[in-house]
Amino acid sequence: MKGIDLSVKIGKLTLKNPILLASGTVGYGNEISEFIDLEKIGGIVTKSLSLKPRKGNPPQRITETASGMLNAIGLANVGVEVFLKEKIPFLKKINAPLICNIAASSVEEYVECTRILTTEDWIKAFEINVSCPNVKEGGLEFGNNLSAVGKITSSVKAVTDKPVIIKLSPNVSRISDFAKVVKEEGGDAVSAINTLVGTAFNIWTRKPKIYNITGGLSGPAIKPVALAKVLEISRNVDIPIIGIGGITKWEDVIEFMICGAYAVEIGTVNFINPRAAIEMSEGIEKYCEQAGITEIKKITGSYQI
Ligand SMILES: Cc1cc2nc3c(=O)[nH]c(=O)nc-3n(C[C@H](O)[C@H](O)[C@H](O)COP(=O)(O)O)c2cc1C
Repeated sequence: MKGIDLSVKIGKLTLKNPILLASGTVGYGNEISEFIDLEKIGGIVTKSLSLKPRKGNPPQRITETASGMLNAIGLANVGVEVFLKEKIPFLKKINAPLICNIAASSVEEYVECTRILTTEDWIKAFEINVSCPNVKEGGLEFGNNLSAVGKITSSVKAVTDKPVIIKLSPNVSRISDFAKVVKEEGGDAVSAINTLVGTAFNIWTRKPKIYNITGGLSGPAIKPVALAKVLEISRNVDIPIIGIGGITKWEDVIEFMICGAYAVEIGTVNFINPRAAIEMSEGIEKYCEQAGITEIKKITGSYQI
């Protein structure tokens, strides 16, 4: 379709369309590349990277739930050095913006990871995961604490010129307070939401279905919660928001944008339909055409309340 501009801006980062692949659901991009042309997506967010490799939690690490899934992977990843040596070469062959997601168990580790990764030109922005519910150190310990989130934001910003997106936890009472701190400390954007803490039990063994006992709930089950969090941030803080949570179809993308999202990330749906991102970008383009919208960014925050 001619004349429809799907591009959006997150700080100084321009994306050709607002659909990004969410952290932890497409690894480092190589497996999903067998199914879709990654050049057509808005961008890829890597699996959370830590300074050293992490094995993650023992199995069972995932279980299906009604309209969703629980995962307690525990941030298994190759670490920044192996990422730069072995994973970046593939990602460089794709013309899609690369956002590196970083997880850590101390402020110093967030800073050190960012300092190392920022030297790689191909990385266009950072998403800082302060909200993983599945690890003992870091994760929610930070994500639940306003001053920790502020300190991580300002410390990471001090070592990179690239946009810094802070990924917020929904497991707090007022998510907009966290977005406010991110803005005050110089963060460029927030992404919301990470998974919600949940659990599931086997009624015959009376044991939890996942080794970690609790896990992070994702998928369509969390979409109304995620939308409410995006709306809350949008109504209270002037900061770019990337909406995440239960998006499975193009209508969901539009709904998130109306509630204030500049862009979205899609996660669990990639396991069900790896072509979802492409189908959504085609869908939103048709929607714009039908609705007489020439620039998709005009939809952001256009709620009528
Ligand atoms: C299997 C799995 C692994 C995930 N790993 C990460 C991760 O490493 N870092 C992170 O920030 N989020 C991680 N997430 C959270 C997603 O990026 C996303 O925030 C969440 O799943 C909600 O979106 P969805 O409902 O579209 O899946 C993971 C989610 C799943 C399902």
